[in-house]
Amino acid sequence: MSKIQAAITGINAYVPDYILTNQELETMVDTNDEWITTRTGIKERHILKGEDQGTSVLGIEAVKGLLAKTNTDPSEIELLICATATPDMQFPDTANLISAATGIKNAFCFDINAACSGFIYALTTGSKFIESGSYKKVIIVGADKMSSIIDYTDRTTCVIFGDGGGAVLLEPATDGLGIIDSLHQSDGDGAQYLYLKAGGSRRPSSAETVAAREHFVYQNGRPVFKAAVAGMSDVVQKIMARNELTNDDIRWLVPHQANMRIIETVSRMADFPLERVMINIQKYGNTTCGTIPICLWEYEDQIKKGDNLILTAFGGGFTWGAIYLKWAI
Ligand code: ACO
Repeated sequence: MSKIQAAITGINAYVPDYILTNQELETMVDTNDEWITTRTGIKERHILKGEDQGTSVLGIEAVKGLLAKTNTDPSEIELLICATATPDMQFPDTANLISAATGIKNAFCFDINAACSGFIYALTTGSKFIESGSYKKVIIVGADKMSSIIDYTDRTTCVIFGDGGGAVLLEPATDGLGIIDSLHQSDGDGAQYLYLKAGGSRRPSSAETVAAREHFVYQNGRPVFKAAVAGMSDVVQKIMARNELTNDDIRWLVPHQANMRIIETVSRMADFPLERVMINIQKYGNTTCGTIPICLWEYEDQIKKGDNLILTAFGGGFTWGAIYLKWAI
């Protein structure tokens, strides 16, 4: 029997309606459109507004659309993994909330948190359940409501992030299409440069942590920038080398959308022309676990069955990795 590979057989995404532009940010902090555009490439980002609206809202909308688009009965889904750094609550996992709201009753569901690498970590994890023959229908969600952990008085972080999410359906393929290889790495020494200090078990929420604004993302941008460029170019080149791929064999590089300058540098180091790199950071900013599925969803019409894609991401932790797949839709 031919080898079973996990193929993406459906893709959908959701971003909330409200658009926060660079011009509006200019009224909130000491920044300007020119600085944001030249340093990050971002023009606008979507923000989820309203009471009691958590990351699950983004995941629910993405999954509902995915089930409809792929004509899948929710009862057929056997596993749902949600990658997120901004779960609705500490527990239950956001994956459970998404499954309950979308009629997915026969699946086991859990979250993965690997910051901005969450979606590719979850995609690799989910693919193993398909490759082993255990499951035939798996959903991977990547979603974040970054606005819930961003300090809108801190100009160094508030211009970068946005809210959004996406979801893919994974099914077995035996025709050579699907996920062929993945390579992931972590380095906990990077924790000092990008973290959210309070609200976990080490520093539980208190009046003091709130007053000290410790429930917001802390980032030292320069070392994160350097490590992101080095990490993503390294894994992209390694996964290509071990699969004996040249740049001409790859139709699309799909990088995590953290910063346009990071995307350009990684593309240059891996020798990819920008015409073959998926880029939509200008419209959404960094949606953390949402960036890669939102990119795939936006570019879906331009991807052909059999195209070789390399997905790559880098995030807090540090965490990073790359996935090589053949598009199956
Ligand atoms: N508007 C205007 N000026 C600003 C702004 C702003 N929004 N933000 C910072 N500045 C100022 C700084 O205060 C500093 O001023 P100073 O020289 O007077 O001190 C100056 O601009 C330069 O600041 P740097 O931080 O050195 O700017 P840099 O060129 O490094 O750009 C940035 C900052 C965009 C954050 C960059 O470092 C970066 O993109 N880093 C990687 C971030 C990233 O990708 N994070 C996501 C990782 S994934 C995850 O898991 C979340």
